[in-house]
Amino acid sequence: MADDDAMVRTTVSKILEMFGHQVITASDGGGVIEQVDDSYDVIILDINMPDLDGFETMDRLNELNCDIPVLFLTGAGSMDYAVKAINLGAYDFLTKPIEDLDIFNVKIRRAIEKRNYVLQERRYKAALEDDIQLKAMQLEKQNKLLLTYSNSLENATVQLMSSLQNAMEEKDYYTAGHTMRVTEYALMLGKAMGLAENELLVLRRASQFHDIGKLVIDLSCIQKPGKLTEEEWVLIRKHPSVGANIIQPLGFMEREQFIIRHHHERMDGRGYPDGLTGDQLDDLTKILIVVDSYDAMTSKRNYRKNMTMEEAVEELYRCSGTQFSFDIVEYFARNIVDFTPAKGVFAQEHLADVYPDSPK
Ligand SMILES: [Fe+2]
Repeated sequence: MADDDAMVRTTVSKILEMFGHQVITASDGGGVIEQVDDSYDVIILDINMPDLDGFETMDRLNELNCDIPVLFLTGAGSMDYAVKAINLGAYDFLTKPIEDLDIFNVKIRRAIEKRNYVLQERRYKAALEDDIQLKAMQLEKQNKLLLTYSNSLENATVQLMSSLQNAMEEKDYYTAGHTMRVTEYALMLGKAMGLAENELLVLRRASQFHDIGKLVIDLSCIQKPGKLTEEEWVLIRKHPSVGANIIQPLGFMEREQFIIRHHHERMDGRGYPDGLTGDQLDDLTKILIVVDSYDAMTSKRNYRKNMTMEEAVEELYRCSGTQFSFDIVEYFARNIVDFTPAKGVFAQEHLADVYPDSPK
């Protein structure tokens, strides 16, 4: 309690001690502010005190977010003061001298009860927060675990499909290594165009599986020497949509599905399977269209001889605007010149054919 009158301090202390309370006194508000902490149950303030008066002390306590009940005990018992005290958040307003000790004691006890209630609520809140934090941590841990599982499942699926794809290519001498080379070209071009990591991942997967539809098409016609008949072409033209359908149930490769379905479309809308035009295709699809054709041109096929890099780039330019995106061809032409294919990815025979100056 704070009161500038030593006599009042002694008297009130004695009364409170008589009712079994422990009392710490201060001669003004400053003393209260210095000492106050959570161990106090009730603060009793006089109003007229030197330096920091009762109202100013209450202001400071509010600034400190102090939630200890404050009782004003003053000789200046006017209505104005009482209203001001209540507005400041005081718990009660009592006048000196204390006439009825029992009522005084009841008021003090009620204030202590309120304090206990506040403390209990605070402990409950803290426990609840701890609990929520713990639950959030557990949930985060489970989510991470789930993400790891789903990532490894995704990787396993991609791995399995790669194996199938490789098995398919091994059956066909003329397309051997095509998927690997197309993937290399696509990533080289994607990086040169400054694509973000997640875009490159989509591009990599789409390139890896762009011809997966050929898995379920009877390959005997592709392997036969000489030109293909119209019926055989009809069959081959089904591979983009068949490939997209193979990917579809996986759920996690929606964009790849689109790219695979449309990797034989043309800018002028005369491609297959849907006859989409350039403005309906995204950059990743346009990249795959260019690099897939480039590899087809520079690879030996059973129905024609392969082109050199220069001849193929010339052909890309010739068909840009109609078959290919001009911008993508530009990027490709500028960057393929400095592209040194890794030895492991490209068969030596292919390297010598397309890039005569490549390391032997
Ligand atoms: Fe294809």
